Amino acid sequence: MGEQKKRILVVGSGGREHALAWALARSPQVEAVYVAPGNAGTQWPARPGQAPAISVPIPVERVEELMTFASKHHIALTVVGPEAPLALGIVDAFQAAGLRIFGPTRAAARIESSKAFAKALMHRCGIPTAAFAVFHELDAARAYVRRHSGPLVVKASGLAGGKGTFVCETPQEAEEALHLLMAERIFGEAGETVVIEERLEGRELSLLAVTDGQVVKPLLPARDHKRLCDGDRGPNTGGMGAYAPVPDVSEQQIVEIVQTILEPTVEALAQQGTPFIGVLYAGLMLTPRGPFVLEFNARLGDPETQAILPLLESDLLEVLEACLDRRLEGISFRWRSGSCVTVVLAAPGYPGPITKGLPIFGLEEAGALDDVWIFHAGTMEQEGQIVTAGGRVLAVSAWGPDLSTAADRAYAAVSRIHFEGMQFRRDIGRPGWYH
Ligand code: AMP
Ligand code: GLY
Repeated sequence: MGEQKKRILVVGSGGREHALAWALARSPQVEAVYVAPGNAGTQWPARPGQAPAISVPIPVERVEELMTFASKHHIALTVVGPEAPLALGIVDAFQAAGLRIFGPTRAAARIESSKAFAKALMHRCGIPTAAFAVFHELDAARAYVRRHSGPLVVKASGLAGGKGTFVCETPQEAEEALHLLMAERIFGEAGETVVIEERLEGRELSLLAVTDGQVVKPLLPARDHKRLCDGDRGPNTGGMGAYAPVPDVSEQQIVEIVQTILEPTVEALAQQGTPFIGVLYAGLMLTPRGPFVLEFNARLGDPETQAILPLLESDLLEVLEACLDRRLEGISFRWRSGSCVTVVLAAPGYPGPITKGLPIFGLEEAGALDDVWIFHAGTMEQEGQIVTAGGRVLAVSAWGPDLSTAADRAYAAVSRIHFEGMQFRRDIGRPGWYH
C-alpha cells in the first residue's frame, strides 16, 4: 500500500459507537481509533488484525473541542454516531474548518430532527407514510384528536431521544400525550410542534443505507425491538435487541424500498440544495398496502448497527470514504452469510430513572466465546472494575449460520454476564416474532 495509516475519531458513547470503532479498527488502513467520549469498552491495545482504540473524554456536543482534538491529533476522518451533534451542525463546523467528517449537514439532518419537515417532504414526493397533520397549538391539535375515532400516534416533531412518540389506543390517550408535549413541555422545544398520524399495523423493518448524496446502497435489513418486554409489551425504549438480515423480507422488497423511498428522499434533499451524505435510516412498517415510512434517521441505528456490522466483510472505512468522495457507485458490499442477533442488557429501572455504578461480572468469559461480540454502551471503569453507567448497558451480539443458532449463541453469552437487576428480552431472533 505504502500509504500512511489513518487515525479515526468516532463521536458517541453507545453500543453503536463501540461497534463502529471495532469495525473501523479492522481496516488495514487504520492506525488508531479514538472514541469521544466512548465507554469502558472503547479502549483496547493493538491486536493482530486490529488497530488500538482510545477513549477521549470529550462530550458529543462540545463541537469546538472535538475540532481542536481532530486537528491536533491529525485525525483523517471523524465519524458521527448519534443524532444530537448532527442537529447541532457538527458536520458543517468540521467542513468549514477543512476537517473530513462522515455524516449529514445540519440542514440535511432535518430529515430526522424535524418530523414535520420529513413528513412534508414525503408528502410532496409521494413517499408512502401514514396520513398526518402537523400542529403548533394545543387547542387545534386537541380538536383534531376529538374529531377522530381511530387509533392515533402522537409525535414530538423535534429530537426527544427516541421517547417522543406515543402510540395511542384511544383519543383520551392521544389528548394526554398532547398535554405532556405541548402544555407540560416534557421535551421542551422538541414538542412545540407535534405530528399526529394514523396508526399503522404490521411488522417493522429498519433499512439503513449509505449514500454519497446521489447513489444509495442499502446495508443488510435489520429488525429492532423497541418495547421493553417479551412479545412486544411494555414501554418503548431506545431498542432492546436486533437481528440482521430479516428472513421475512425479500431482496425484491429491499430493491423496491430503495427505489420508492430512499432514492426519492436523497434526490429531494439534493434538489433543495441540502444534499444528504451519510447513513439514511428508514424506519418502516410493512403493511398490507406495502412498506410505509414511520420515521427517518440521519445516522446508524442502535442496536441495529451491532447486528449489522459483525456481518460486514468489506472495509468500512473504504465505504465511508467512498461516500465522501462521491464514488459510492463503484463500491459493493461483501457480507458474511448467516445471521447476527444482538441482545441489549439494560440497567434496573430502564427506560425510567436508572441505578448506576453496579459491578458487571462475566464479561471476559462471555467475550471469549466464538463469534460473540460484547459491545459496551452504558459502562465505565471504576477502580479497575467495569460498572454500569447508563440505561442500555451492553449489547451482546452473536453470529450463527442461521437466525436461531445466532440467537442461541447470543443467549449463551448473555447467561454468563450478570449485574444486579439486569433486564433483557428473551425473544430476540426467536420464532414467533417473524412468523
Ligand atoms: P418513531 O419515533 O417515529 O420511530 O416511532 C417509534 C415507534 O413507534 C416505532 O418504531 C413504531 O413502533 C411506533 N410507531 C411510530 N409511528 C407509528 C404509526 N404511524 N403507526 C404505528 N406505530 C407507529
Ligand atoms: N434503533 C432505533 C434508533 O436507533 O433510532
